[in-house]
This record gives sequence, C-alpha cells and structure tokens, in this order.
Amino acid sequence: MTEQPVDDRVIDLDVRSLTAAAAGDLEEAQEYADKAADSGSLLGIALSTYLRTSHRHDVYDRPAAFEAFIAGGGNVDLYRRTSAVLASAYPGAAALLDVGCGNGHALVPALQMAGDAAPSAVELVEPGADLLEHCVGAVQAAGLPLKITGWQMGLTDFLKTAPPAQRWHLAQSTFALQSIEPTERLVALRALAPRVDRLLVVDFDVADERPGSKKHLRDLATRYERGLSEYDDTTDLVAQGFLMPVLLGQLSADEARTNWEQPAEKWREEFQAAGFQDVEVRPLADYWSAPAFALTATGATMTG
Ligand SMILES: C[S@@+](CC[C@H](N)C(=O)[O-])C[C@H]1O[C@@H](n2cnc3c(N)ncnc32)[C@H](O)[C@@H]1O
Repeated sequence: MTEQPVDDRVIDLDVRSLTAAAAGDLEEAQEYADKAADSGSLLGIALSTYLRTSHRHDVYDRPAAFEAFIAGGGNVDLYRRTSAVLASAYPGAAALLDVGCGNGHALVPALQMAGDAAPSAVELVEPGADLLEHCVGAVQAAGLPLKITGWQMGLTDFLKTAPPAQRWHLAQSTFALQSIEPTERLVALRALAPRVDRLLVVDFDVADERPGSKKHLRDLATRYERGLSEYDDTTDLVAQGFLMPVLLGQLSADEARTNWEQPAEKWREEFQAAGFQDVEVRPLADYWSAPAFALTATGATMTG
C-alpha cells in the first residue's frame, strides 16, 4: 500500500488512453495503456489488462471485487466515518430504510455502534442478490436484536410495491443513489420524500468538470493512479472487477455506466427539488476520488 509519485509524462499516457477510449478508439486506448503500463503506471497496467480482456458484467451482480475494494485502502477510514455518522442519526429512528445497502459494510458497524439506540426494524433495498444476502447475513451474524427485511430490487420498484401507508423514521443511503440514473432518481426521491421523517445520505462531492475534457481526464487519471496505489494483494481484483468498469463507464459508450456523480451543491438542489426540507450538507471525509459529504434532510410532510 505505497503511494508512488507518478511522473506527469506517465499520466499523459493514461490521459491519451482515456481520451481514445472516450472517442471509441479502443485500439489506440490499448496502445497508450500499454505504454503507460511499461512506464510503471498502475492505471496503465489496469487499463491495459482490462481493454485486452472481455469480461463485461454488472459490478454489483458479481460483487467480490466491490467487496474487496470497500474493505481496503482509503475506504477503511471512509467507512469508519460513514458508519459513525449513520449511528449518530439512529436515536429516535425505530424504523430504518437503507437504500442500496450493499453488503452492509456501512450499515452493520453503525447498528453495532448505536447500541440501544439502534432501530428495531430495518428494511433493506438492494438489487444485487449476493450483496443483499451478505448484508442480511452480516446483520444476523452480529446478533443484533432487530427485525430485518430484505427487498431484492431497486428503489423505484420498491416504492411502487411498498404499501402506500408505510413510512420510515429514517431513510439512509451511502454511496448508492449515485447508481441510479438521474431522471429516474428524481422521480424515486419525490416518491420517497413524503414517506420518511428524516433522510441521511453519504456520497461524494465530485467536481463539475466537462465530461471527457482534458482537465477531467487528467484529474481522473491522477486520482485513479492514487486509488490503485492504496491496494496491494487485491489490486488486480479491485481494478478489473470494479474500478476499470466504473472509470470507463463514465467515459466510453462501449461500457455500461455504473454511476452518476455530481457536486454536493447539485445533490442539495436535487433533494430540494424532490420535496425534502431542511437540507444540510457537511463534509465527512477526504477520499482519493473526491471528498465525501453527509447530507441530512427532513421528509416532505414534516414542518418546523
Ligand atoms: C457503491 S455501492 C454502496 C453500497 C453500500 N451502501 C455501501 O455503503 O457500501 C452502490 C450500491 O447501490 C446499489 N444499487 C444500484 N442500483 C440501485 C437502485 N436502483 N436502487 C437501490 N440501490 C441500487 C448497488 O447494487 C450497490 O449495492
């Protein structure tokens, strides 16, 4: 887990590879990735390997790489802070909804930290079958005295099927709302707002760069080089099964997009547009891809 300073000329090669991938020229992307790899770039190695092999699948459907990713590097501190902020919101929240809970890496330590203040009923919404199973298993293994219900579906479908009168004291979502395409997300958030007393969201404050611009690609290359350097034994798994599909999904029409990130201010506006009130955003942690924030709000029907 050593962070090596990377020469600007090496980052240039990565940027050229990303530029070519964004333009749909995967052959040229491969050539520059190979050169970057030969010059010692971890991103170059990861891109070169990824572009050479054909292994397209949803990053959360076969989650071993995602699970290795969140268990290592800067995620250790990020998740510790995330769980702490979740736990601090639990007093008074008997019924909790976790949107996109993943394997429970943020949720389960939060429930443990909260002790007696932990919710008595937790509903999990998670489209990934294995992730949901791992999350339910982790809650059960922790021996927490709460009722747990898992729904293997996305937020939109969940809100369509949940009984109309059902409400939650608190809805939380950590790094998951970014996975929902923004038009669908706003509709889903509008449906969620009247059904919760409070909302707590943790996500990344991602700078508003013009997608595919030189500055954007250089920033991505520099950040991903740093992110990859935080892993050791699991670098290849993390890179091939998670970080490369996430990176290229933002840039290349040949790769399925996995997330839609934006500046914290845009998140604030989106929650306000969805009807949430008292929206407040606080910095939570530094992180290699972007700083993380915690956003709190009250539901649409709450006053004062
Ligand atoms: C980056 S992971 C975060 C997981 C977990 N909350 C955590 O903090 O580790 C994004 C999660 O969002 C889930 N997801 C994807 N689409 C979703 C949707 N439409 N509704 C709810 N969750 C979704 C993914 O399956 C994945 O578990």
